[in-house]
Amino acid sequence: MKIVLVGYMGSGKTTVGKLLAKKRNLTFIDLDNYIEDSEKKTISEIFKEKGEIYFRKKELYYLEEVLNINKNIVLSTGGGTPCYGVNMNTILSATKNVFYIKVGINELVKRLSLEKEHRPLIKNIKDEEMPEFIGKHMFERSFFYSKAHHTLTTDNTTPEETVETIKSLLV
Ligand code: S3P
Repeated sequence: MKIVLVGYMGSGKTTVGKLLAKKRNLTFIDLDNYIEDSEKKTISEIFKEKGEIYFRKKELYYLEEVLNINKNIVLSTGGGTPCYGVNMNTILSATKNVFYIKVGINELVKRLSLEKEHRPLIKNIKDEEMPEFIGKHMFERSFFYSKAHHTLTTDNTTPEETVETIKSLLV
């Protein structure tokens, strides 16, 4: 079984994914960590040294690699993973268990304002510009996220509750 979580930065994909993997006895893979381990560089270093286009190419390369691993996995993708090229179709053709972990813009702004440092795309956005930046970014990206088989609005739910909902929807 393969379960894939998509959603914006700060939406809690990793927290939910780890918990879900533990409960279902599946292997948890965080795509960003997988890229970092394979490239032996942090995501920030890759962006800084090679640029975003290089990162996006690597992201697709490792996405395909992970989806081809013959194991039962929960995969937490990066916020941009489904939003470039054919990536979302690649994800959707690998499994029927794709979940969009959705969080409202105000809550994302709150969470991300506190942890911008290791996130190259928002690191230099001023606090007062965050609502507009995230609002626009989400507007572009929700087209891709919403192709997931299920959209779970998680502003007012605990990770445990989200995991239970996912478990009840698995095919
Ligand atoms: C990105 C999200 C990050 C990481 C990179 C780019 C994005 O992952 O892949 O910084 O384009 O939204 P998280 O969603 O795990 O923070």
